[in-house]
Amino acid sequence: MANSDFAWDTFDSAAYFDHNYSVLRSDDGEIIEIVADFFQSHDIPRRIRSRAIDIGAGTNLYPALTMLPFAAEIMLYERAVTNRSWLEEEVERPRPSWWEFWKHMAADRAAYGRVGNAFDLLSRRAKVEKGNIFHLTPDEYDMGTMFFVAESITTRSDEFERATQSFVNSLMPRAPFAAAFMRNSSGYRVANRDFPACSVDEADVQQALAPVAEKVRIQTVQSHGLRDGYCGMMVATGRKKA
Ligand SMILES: C[S@@+](CC[C@H](N)C(=O)[O-])C[C@H]1O[C@@H](n2cnc3c(N)ncnc32)[C@H](O)[C@@H]1O
Repeated sequence: MANSDFAWDTFDSAAYFDHNYSVLRSDDGEIIEIVADFFQSHDIPRRIRSRAIDIGAGTNLYPALTMLPFAAEIMLYERAVTNRSWLEEEVERPRPSWWEFWKHMAADRAAYGRVGNAFDLLSRRAKVEKGNIFHLTPDEYDMGTMFFVAESITTRSDEFERATQSFVNSLMPRAPFAAAFMRNSSGYRVANRDFPACSVDEADVQQALAPVAEKVRIQTVQSHGLRDGYCGMMVATGRKKA
């Protein structure tokens, strides 16, 4: 089934948040370490108004937090109206669990440690935007994240590839990115509704990124018990081709 076959505006934000982000799990902790180390070590071009994008933000603030020290503006780009409303409120009044995510990120990382009040800064830098991953404009953003989106919005492998490439193409040449993927997922349930997945592994992610990205590194993260029907998670880091 295609991305457009699903009623994304019925996505139950509260149920998704409660299941996934009401506590910091060890898999997300490991992903944070990979991504924060990558962005901190990357030579991110400093522009006066550097812009970042998190695509399909859902009810997850931690990808945006990994970009907070490096971007003047962070676009939270989301198709579902429910998630956009949730994000608007959340950046103003973040739930307590996000402090655990931030503490984990900022510990022993100078670029993050230098940020004073992370959530005050996030509320000023984040902008929630209605959008569809398949309609992004190329060459716009200085860095980007996409967590559990390209493989979790469709069952079709052509759409998985197109979504992944559209994400990377929305960045400027050489801009760094981090993307997380469920590994061999068979779909997921949010409240009482089923949402799709395209089952992908490291080779599929590599193949999808090859035409548009360089210096790609894919790391596998152990994850158990979040739900049935998946075999861990993967994190890809790299930069858009010059
Ligand atoms: C599995 S959730 C991932 C949410 C979040 N990034 C996370 O890390 O948990 C997939 C997200 O993609 C959004 N989405 C679905 N189709 C989309 C599209 N065509 N363009 C942008 N976002 C889309 C959904 O509304 C949902 O928020």
